[in-house]
Amino acid sequence: IGKELHYFETVDSTNDMAKKMGFKAEEGTVVIAEMQESGRGRKGDRWASPKGGIWLSVILKPGILPVHAPRLTLMAGVAVARTIRQFGADASIKWPNDVVIDGKKVCGILTEMDAEVDHIGFVVIGIGINANVSVDELPEELREGSTSLSSINGENINRAAFVQALLRSLEAEYLRFKVEGFSKILEDWISLSDTIGRQVEVITPQKIIAGKATGITAEGALIVETAEGMQEVMAGRCIYK
Ligand code: BTN
Repeated sequence: IGKELHYFETVDSTNDMAKKMGFKAEEGTVVIAEMQESGRGRKGDRWASPKGGIWLSVILKPGILPVHAPRLTLMAGVAVARTIRQFGADASIKWPNDVVIDGKKVCGILTEMDAEVDHIGFVVIGIGINANVSVDELPEELREGSTSLSSINGENINRAAFVQALLRSLEAEYLRFKVEGFSKILEDWISLSDTIGRQVEVITPQKIIAGKATGITAEGALIVETAEGMQEVMAGRCIYK
């Protein structure tokens, strides 16, 4: 991963750029930019991408069924959390796919793909990390719930070294995914999780699911023990109670 790497000063969105390249690109191609003008988050949200952050997308061609694509998002969360820990901060994963430090979001992951029902052309894993970014540069409504690597100990991190370590970690996880399957990665995800064991409220467009988060399924659904029994929820906003 990263043998072929496209670096830009400014792009609209590295995910969009990677999607344009997707079919022709070698697996493992990385698109990285200093700044994004229209960085995208989940649910169509805007993703603030000022200079100093790490904004990158990786193109993968995993040969799995589209329904299993969320596994790659979980895999990426494991790789990011591990890399941040290597750099000395206590990162964990908040379901579904936020990497947090002290409960504050430091990284978001947006996986997109070109797929038919039974076949994936390619997957783009977009990773956004507030590296050397001041939280004050983020939109006001996000400041309280966000943090950055540089605000942990007040020093900028070496972004090149971080990206190198991250791509190495992603590649190791991806090879493991292909050779050993997903179960080991799921175990790691659970051990890095900040969510399992907590009282949560998961807000979905249809309903609110409240209870204790007890696990996660192989497809990435959160298992919540509610007053009405076990429920699995695939997507939603998770609030700790
Ligand atoms: C989220 O909502 O938590 C996901 C945020 C994903 C942001 C990254 S930054 C690199 C890539 N390009 C984008 O436009 N988005 C992703």
